[in-house]
Amino acid sequence: MSNVRPLPTAEPRTPVGKAHPPLDLDELLAQGVMQGDAANLLPRLRPDSVDLFFTSPPYADQRAYSRINPDRYVDWFLPHARAMLEASTETGSMVINIKNRVAASGSLRGQRHPYVYELVLALQHLGWRWIETYIWAKPNAMPGRFGTRTKDAFEYVYHFAKGTPHFDLDAVRVPYKADQAEIDRRKKDSLGRRSTEAGFGRDRTKTYLKGGADPGNVVSVPQTYNQHKGVAHTAAMPEGLAEFFIRCMSPENGLVIDPFAGSGTTVTVGRRLGRRAAGFELHDEYAREARRRIAADVADDLPGEAVVLG
Ligand SMILES: C[S@@+](CC[C@H](N)C(=O)[O-])C[C@H]1O[C@@H](n2cnc3c(N)ncnc32)[C@H](O)[C@@H]1O
Repeated sequence: MSNVRPLPTAEPRTPVGKAHPPLDLDELLAQGVMQGDAANLLPRLRPDSVDLFFTSPPYADQRAYSRINPDRYVDWFLPHARAMLEASTETGSMVINIKNRVAASGSLRGQRHPYVYELVLALQHLGWRWIETYIWAKPNAMPGRFGTRTKDAFEYVYHFAKGTPHFDLDAVRVPYKADQAEIDRRKKDSLGRRSTEAGFGRDRTKTYLKGGADPGNVVSVPQTYNQHKGVAHTAAMPEGLAEFFIRCMSPENGLVIDPFAGSGTTVTVGRRLGRRAAGFELHDEYAREARRRIAADVADDLPGEAVVLG
């Protein structure tokens, strides 16, 4: 038996949902998180209306709320991605937090399952431009028994864009490593442009005029195990992760949609940052909980905790 799976096709094998009446955006924003199936609700978003889709879709076959077999993950996801592409503005992005897993059965049993990589290629074939792969590093990853592997201490966050995306690097700059005395000295440096260990011909006088250092694409945010802190969802993401991507990849007052909203982290953080944010959630219980959280803006961790490495 072959140990390798065929590459994904661009065309989804499952049909895209039939036409639905457009969603009333005011109603969606009033609800915050609308209960329903993203497969039906995404095609109802108006074309060219969404600035950022930021989401952590259900993981393959891992949690009680969803049973999507990793072998069928790409087929399952593609109709959603097609609808998001349609609804995205020309500067819009789709940012997906997704986790690797080990194949539990079949010819790949015991190996890393390739569904994440298959999905990325399929999305690119579909027309989403693959801009960057970020690593969400978890400094507090849970210990456990992982056999021939170390513990899972990161997840992927893939950035796709419809065209040239909105990208505000200044919104996510990180503190300079140099101390204030060194920063002040460099600002006055009369021989700014010269070759240094840090680079050939770099103008070092301007380095410290940007308000912060360039962040890297490894974003370190502690995982919040917040089922003990009043948020019952078992897979809620930390607010600091949502904050980094929303700040950087959506304009102020932009429309941010999370089609798999869970406990409403994206919507809560998005609104706190002055975005029009809303989401969809299949399970009524989670949708209600999300609405309660958004209304109360219950923070399980403080925004701004993201530490960008590199
Ligand atoms: C990984 S969780 C998202 C967690 C979320 N980022 C948070 O911070 O709470 C994925 C969510 O997608 C929901 N879901 C699964 N299938 C769905 C569908 N077809 N439409 C909408 N939501 C769905 C699940 O119920 C689950 O709450």
